Amino acid sequence: MNRRKLIVANWKMYLSLHEASLLTNRLDKHVELHHDVEVVLSPNYLCLQPLSQEIDHRKFKLAAQDGYFVDEGAYTGAISFNQMRDLVSYAIIGHSERRRYFNDSLEVVRDKVAAAVRNRITPILCVGETKEERAQKETKQVLHDQIVTALSNLTSDDAENLVLGYEPVWAIGADEPAKPDQIESAISWIRYQVRELYGEKTESSMRLLYGGSDEPEFVKSIMSIDGVDGLLVGRASLNYERFKDIINNAHLVALEEDKGKEA
Ligand code: PGA
Repeated sequence: MNRRKLIVANWKMYLSLHEASLLTNRLDKHVELHHDVEVVLSPNYLCLQPLSQEIDHRKFKLAAQDGYFVDEGAYTGAISFNQMRDLVSYAIIGHSERRRYFNDSLEVVRDKVAAAVRNRITPILCVGETKEERAQKETKQVLHDQIVTALSNLTSDDAENLVLGYEPVWAIGADEPAKPDQIESAISWIRYQVRELYGEKTESSMRLLYGGSDEPEFVKSIMSIDGVDGLLVGRASLNYERFKDIINNAHLVALEEDKGKEA
């Protein structure tokens, strides 16, 4: 199964509209269009509308960083996926910072995933264990609970298009990413869970990302891991040179894979 590589920039609560627009312009100048790598930018809500008019849509797609699970109503301060449906192709859902600082429970994440799908926005569902959970050998259980709950309202057709990001909480904002063997075993466990839920066809269509301290020099070793299709990039995506190098390195991995298949 040839899944297109996917690189997602999570700009979190950084960048004013002016700065986001400047960074997007720089990326546009320096990033080449690679048909084998899809690039998604996820700025804060305020930037979505202006950036959707500025970007070259062949090169970049937009993602929301969250969204509310009700489509409309008296929910002061909230923004629904329904209101963003013409602006974004993707939405990051269940990021550990949302789970930790905004109390997004397993059920809230499930409802947000369903709301995004209902509004034809592809969820990028983030899952991952904390340092303590890993130390307690609870990683598999945590990933299982997060995945099974979040996907529980989806059909296999919905699930096929979903993107899943493995983001060990302890590797986010850290000095370096998780080790390849740690990523490999988590990714293969996640793929197993999806296969158990939906079967092989859905699992083999679904793209899986790794997130946590991604930098250009780690792209090859991480993206060569079996079952990993791309990266969810935080800090390095705020710098156009580092993010450009990440995209180019992902393209090189895709080229090598293609060569391997021809040989
Ligand atoms: P980081 O963030 O690359 O800065 O570690 C990753 C993320 O939170 O998605």
